[in-house]
Amino acid sequence: RSTKILLLIVVLGILAVVATRELTMDTLANNSVITAILSRLQLLETENKKLKEELSTAENNKKKYLNVRFLAEKDRKRILVTGGAGFVGSHLVDKLMMMGHEVTVVDNFFTGRKRNIEHWIGHENFELIHHDVISPLFIEVDQIYHLACPASPPHYMYNPVKTIKTSSMGTMNMLGLAKRIRATMLLASTSEVYGDPQEHPQKESYWGHVNPIGPRACYDEGKRVAETMCYAYASQDNVKVRVARIFNTFGPRMHMQDGRVVSNFILQSLQGEPITIYGNGEQTRSFQYVTDLVDGLVALMNSDVNSPVNIGNPEEHTISEFAHLIRNYTQSKSEIVHKQAATDDPRKRKPDITKAQQYLNWSPVVPLASGLERTIAYFKAELQQESGNK
Ligand SMILES: NC(=O)c1ccc[n+]([C@@H]2O[C@H](COP(=O)([O-])OP(=O)(O)OC[C@H]3O[C@@H](n4cnc5c(N)ncnc54)[C@H](O)[C@@H]3O)[C@@H](O)[C@H]2O)c1
Repeated sequence: RSTKILLLIVVLGILAVVATRELTMDTLANNSVITAILSRLQLLETENKKLKEELSTAENNKKKYLNVRFLAEKDRKRILVTGGAGFVGSHLVDKLMMMGHEVTVVDNFFTGRKRNIEHWIGHENFELIHHDVISPLFIEVDQIYHLACPASPPHYMYNPVKTIKTSSMGTMNMLGLAKRIRATMLLASTSEVYGDPQEHPQKESYWGHVNPIGPRACYDEGKRVAETMCYAYASQDNVKVRVARIFNTFGPRMHMQDGRVVSNFILQSLQGEPITIYGNGEQTRSFQYVTDLVDGLVALMNSDVNSPVNIGNPEEHTISEFAHLIRNYTQSKSEIVHKQAATDDPRKRKPDITKAQQYLNWSPVVPLASGLERTIAYFKAELQQESGNK
């Protein structure tokens, strides 16, 4: 019996030892699970912190847009601006975007730059399409501002055949689009349709004095035929057209090397080079500031005036006056030199804007001095950036 009791004690002892061992192993196992969970939690916390940091950096780096008005759907228009990456086009895009419309820019970047509109890229109301208007375009919009066309002599003379194609085929494509989708189309025409005018100032009723085979004809006649097309589509297909005859315009984002009076004089003055006047300097020009032009274009588009309207500033100055004004504003010491007059360069140019005043209630408001100040500041910044890149 005592042996049995002894045996029982031994068995119980063994069982106790085994049970204790099992318990310790379970505890150990539980501990290692907890440790694993804890280290995983720590890892997640670090990842979470990192993500939060990245999110806040992204928030800080998020593109900030200019304030855009909110327009209810019934007032919000889908608007196409061809040539919207150019000088005038980009200012027009700014205005239409700020008004709260949905804007699509079509441009082939011949003279335009993405930089002119980069502040809108990514905005929910903005779209950019790289496209040449000499090919048809299929898009749904309510209004078309058709500006695509090189505008300064060195640009439009660079490839005259392409300039004519852009003016004719490009305008025909946009009119075809306007016809299909029943949109209103505004053509950015030009005071060049008056050529070297024999009537002064120029009224819309004046038919012009253009050399059809001269070096500027690709542009002048191109715009004349573009106007003709507008009225053919209007009378034959009831397309709603607006024609703006734009006079010389200046402002920030104009091409520094476009060979035109304002840009030439500013650049020469800022760089201390001689200011070149072609001819005796007695030829006159009238310049409007770009925001005045843009206001006029929008007013014309939204009016019911379907015949051509001059949009320009009638304040007339001789080229010599401009040279002196710009030299003074830039505080330059550049000398003024005269060179031979350019072929077919008009002697006088001044719009009669009675029609725009009467029917659009529009007149230019930006004084020449403040327009020049803003343009000179832009040229200075561009030159500084150029020299920084060298
Ligand atoms: N700036 C002025 O003083 C002035 C005067 C009269 C008329 N205009 C007219 O206003 C419009 C805009 O002139 P701007 O001074 O802004 O010139 P710009 O050269 O700065 O702009 C023209 C734009 O059209 C684009 N473009 C040219 N050909 C194209 C094509 N085939 N397809 C697509 N895009 C094309 C260019 O890349 C550019 O972005 C032009 O139609 C011009 O004839 C301007």
